[in-house]
Amino acid sequence: INIRQATIEDLLAMQNCNLNNLPENYQMKYYIYHLASWPQLSYVAEDHKGRVVGYVLAKMEEEANQLPNGHITSLSVMRNFRRLGLAEKLMSQAQRAMVESFGAKSCSLHVRKSNRAAISLYKDTLKFSEVEVEKKYYADGEDAKKMVLKFK
Ligand code: ACO
Repeated sequence: INIRQATIEDLLAMQNCNLNNLPENYQMKYYIYHLASWPQLSYVAEDHKGRVVGYVLAKMEEEANQLPNGHITSLSVMRNFRRLGLAEKLMSQAQRAMVESFGAKSCSLHVRKSNRAAISLYKDTLKFSEVEVEKKYYADGEDAKKMVLKFK
């Protein structure tokens, strides 16, 4: 499995992977906006036939007068390719690029309170801290944990 920066040609496959793995889905224009604005920050994992089996879609936060902070919009890996370290690698690449390309001081994300796999990845493996619970963040009413990783 190969990890590389995402290109415009990957966007349909990334959207498809997202539809397979998560209830939070986005219009194609939002994917295009990510690559047009922060092309360094999104990555795909591809199998030996060049099929996208995982992705991370990432951006910089856009509030004015704030330190540069990165944000993970969406991360997922196809079922048959889980527990191989792909999500950890995708996240590490995005985090590194946030620092190198945009001088990011931290990275944030939201995750469903019930998402044990992802919370374990963020907390235990990647060392994110939970900073707050955002009540009813998701469309179905579930709370989100907001997690942040401060870069050294
Ligand atoms: N249970 C417990 N811990 C887990 C699990 C799990 N099912 N999956 C990953 N982890 C933790 C483990 O510590 C693991 O290390 P280990 O395998 O050595 O024990 C570590 O995370 C690294 O795991 P990876 O192999 O890198 O993770 P994977 O490639 O399997 O992807 C992901 C994890 C992205 C959460 C995957 O399960 C998935 O796509 N789930 C559905 C979509 C999803 O929940 N995405 C995240 C939503 S939040 C957001 O997008 C910002």
